[in-house]
Amino acid sequence: MDDFGLLIRFIEHTLGIRCSSYKEDYIKRRLLSRMRSTNCVTYQDYLNYLKANPAELEKLRNALTINVTEFFRDSDVYELIKKEIFSSLIQQRKRLHIWCAGCSTGEEPYSLAMILSDLIAQNPLISAQIYATDIDQVVLQKAKEGLYPPKTMVKLSESQIRRHFTKLPDGNFQVKPHLKELIRFRPHDLMSGVPIAQRLDLITCRNVTIYFNEQQKGSLARMFHGALGSRGFYIMGKTEYLGRTLENLFEPYNSLQKVFIKKD
Ligand SMILES: C[S@@+](CC[C@H](N)C(=O)[O-])C[C@H]1O[C@@H](n2cnc3c(N)ncnc32)[C@H](O)[C@@H]1O
Repeated sequence: MDDFGLLIRFIEHTLGIRCSSYKEDYIKRRLLSRMRSTNCVTYQDYLNYLKANPAELEKLRNALTINVTEFFRDSDVYELIKKEIFSSLIQQRKRLHIWCAGCSTGEEPYSLAMILSDLIAQNPLISAQIYATDIDQVVLQKAKEGLYPPKTMVKLSESQIRRHFTKLPDGNFQVKPHLKELIRFRPHDLMSGVPIAQRLDLITCRNVTIYFNEQQKGSLARMFHGALGSRGFYIMGKTEYLGRTLENLFEPYNSLQKVFIKKD
């Protein structure tokens, strides 16, 4: 095994991140950025550095799993979810099951929960469960806490903030319990199968597959197809693509917003 292979084996073993799930170019770029910051020239240098400096492991984890997210990211998609997807789903069933895969620090599942909470307030017969998962335990812990600084709240209306958050004396905003109750956060590696036994109505997996190679994207879409109930929805990030081979699994519902429906 060459030095790159040895480094990858060490990372997979210690961080539990399956590097083979990612494009090799992506992994190399991230590694080189950490190597530059730690003055390591070769992969072997960096492996030795990691072994001697455990604190570097967390920095590497953050570099490999970029966690950028925001409330109502791509607001048009959320308009579609609110006006068309949820209303279509609740005509068929009163309890909705949603999987937000790769949820990062929680802004995505909390955005969905805000829409659902308003829907439930209008129609108390409706109930919902959002399963929010991420491979990165650090971001997941932040998501569970639901504590956000003012700069992350810019896309939220005054009314949304008032109804769903409590402003703390230090200026940060705390998610209210009624939103938290709609979400179950848990750690999960997307490469390890479906963590939910329930048939799902909607899966959002947005801005996650950009790091995956074609083969992994394929198995992910097959996995989502199996996890969705009949005519369930799958939403990916606006810059992501379904591989050709998957066109027989999903049909486009709104191609621009990257919303698909499971073909039965
Ligand atoms: C860019 S964020 C996207 C967050 C949110 N979905 C959004 O669109 O705003 C990507 C997230 O995917 C997570 N991720 C990357 N690889 C993963 C994997 N194999 N399994 C689960 N989550 C993964 C990262 O930890 C990160 O939090």
